[in-house]
Amino acid sequence: MSNKLIAGNWKMNGSLAANEALVKAMLAGIGQPSAEVALCAPSPYLAQLQSLLQGSPIAWGSQDVSAHEQGAYTGEVSVGMLKDFGCRYAIVGHSERRQYHGETDELVAAKAQRALSAGVTPIVCVGETLAEREANETEAVVKRQLAAVIHTVGHCITEIVVAYEPVWAIGTGKTATPEQAQAVHAVLRAQLAAATTNSKRVHILYGGSMNAANAATLLAQPDIDGGLIGGASLKAADFLQIVAAAA
Ligand code: 13P
Repeated sequence: MSNKLIAGNWKMNGSLAANEALVKAMLAGIGQPSAEVALCAPSPYLAQLQSLLQGSPIAWGSQDVSAHEQGAYTGEVSVGMLKDFGCRYAIVGHSERRQYHGETDELVAAKAQRALSAGVTPIVCVGETLAEREANETEAVVKRQLAAVIHTVGHCITEIVVAYEPVWAIGTGKTATPEQAQAVHAVLRAQLAAATTNSKRVHILYGGSMNAANAATLLAQPDIDGGLIGGASLKAADFLQIVAAAA
C-alpha cells in the first residue's frame, strides 16, 4: 500500500469566505504531509478550490458526478466539467445520495465508470444501515454494493478508492470500533482480491465520525488505508490532526 489517503467531504456546507479561511488555515499548517490529502467541495466551489490549492499538497474533488457524458440532464455535473476544474476525485454513492436521491448500486457503478473514463478517481462509498447491521446483513450489503462496481468497471477496479461508511456512524458521533471497521475492510479487501491481483493498490477508507481523537487507532488497522471525513473536515485543526495521524 502506498501512502494513506485522507479526504474531506464538506457535504453541503461552506461559502466563499468560509472556504477561503478554512483552506488557508489548512495550507498554513499542513507542511509536507506523508499522507495523500484531498477536499471534496460542493460543485460551485470547485473553481475556488482550484485557485486556492493549485500547486499545494492538497488535491480536490466533487461529491458526485453524472453517469452521463453530456446533454439534457438538468442539474447534473459531468466528469468533463470536473476535469475542467482540476478535480482528481469524485465521491460516488455516498449514503446520503443513496438515501435521499434513490441512487441504486447500478447507478453508482455507472457513475464510477464515467469518472474513470475521464481519469477522475471515484471514491465509491459502501455501508450498511443500523437495521442491516442488527440483522447481521453488513457483509452481504457491502459486498453487493461493491460487486456492482466490480462488475461494471472490470479490470479498472484497481483505479478506484473504496470508502466504508457505516450509515449509523455518519454524523452521529458513534464511530465504528477499530475492530468493527477492520472486519468489514477485510471483507472488502478479500472481495477486491478475488477481482484483481492488485487489491493492495486500492485504498479502502473508513468514514463515519472519524475525528482527531479516534483517527490514529482506526488508521492503525491493517486494511484501513485512510479516512473520508465529514464534520471534522470543516475544522482546520481537527483535519490536520487526522492528516498527521495518517503519517
Ligand atoms: P462524519 O465524519 O461527519 O460522520 O461524515 C462522514 C461522511 O459521511 C463522510 O463522507
